[in-house]
Amino acid sequence: MIELVKPSEEYKESFIEAMREFQSEGQERYMKLNLSELESDFEQFLGEIDDREKGINLLEGRVPSSEFWVVDGNEFIGGVYIRHKLNETLLKKGGHIGYHMRPTKRKMGYGTQALRLALPIAKNLGIQRVLITCDDDNLGSMKIIEKNGGILENKIEHEGKFKRRYWIDNK
Ligand SMILES: CC(C)(COP(=O)(O)OP(=O)(O)OC[C@H]1O[C@@H](n2cnc3c(N)ncnc32)[C@H](O)[C@@H]1OP(=O)(O)O)[C@@H](O)C(=O)NCCC(=O)NCCS
Repeated sequence: MIELVKPSEEYKESFIEAMREFQSEGQERYMKLNLSELESDFEQFLGEIDDREKGINLLEGRVPSSEFWVVDGNEFIGGVYIRHKLNETLLKKGGHIGYHMRPTKRKMGYGTQALRLALPIAKNLGIQRVLITCDDDNLGSMKIIEKNGGILENKIEHEGKFKRRYWIDNK
């Protein structure tokens, strides 16, 4: 059964295994993650996630964001990131919600369900109109957004690539 959960030690082994998959495919977000450090100090890693939610030690230009893990039973499937508000950059690229599913678990419906489960959480954070962006050639993400009620506002060029900008009414 798919669930969105708060990151926790419980999924450590499965999470690290998934990170190996993401690094093999070159997933930008995780390329700098040192897996042996993660193995030895998972607690610190979890603490950093917690800080990002509370807006502590944010990198320049970042807004507070909540991270949830998509799990099925005790297996880590992917991550969902809910940014509490938009800034100028997120308004063009990034939006309120981002997600990725581990390479070996794609095209199984997890992405679609993960966004479905994230919307009420965003609502609780006060986000009544959710912006989600994706690359113009990311068919999987496009389908996920459209199946969750996303309405395409426009496509804009960002660093040489076209991005689709969708809004979901989340009242
Ligand atoms: C995009 C991504 C999240 C899709 O996750 P997923 O779990 O495979 O999504 P789903 O299984 O719910 O698929 C949704 C639909 O898209 C289709 N789809 C998924 N990946 C696809 C792909 N690479 N090419 C074509 N169609 C694809 C599925 O078949 C499904 O179609 P259907 O509704 O007609 O059955 C996943 O590929 C991923 O993590 N990619 C890397 C990170 C990324 O791009 N994140 C999104 C940033 S906006």
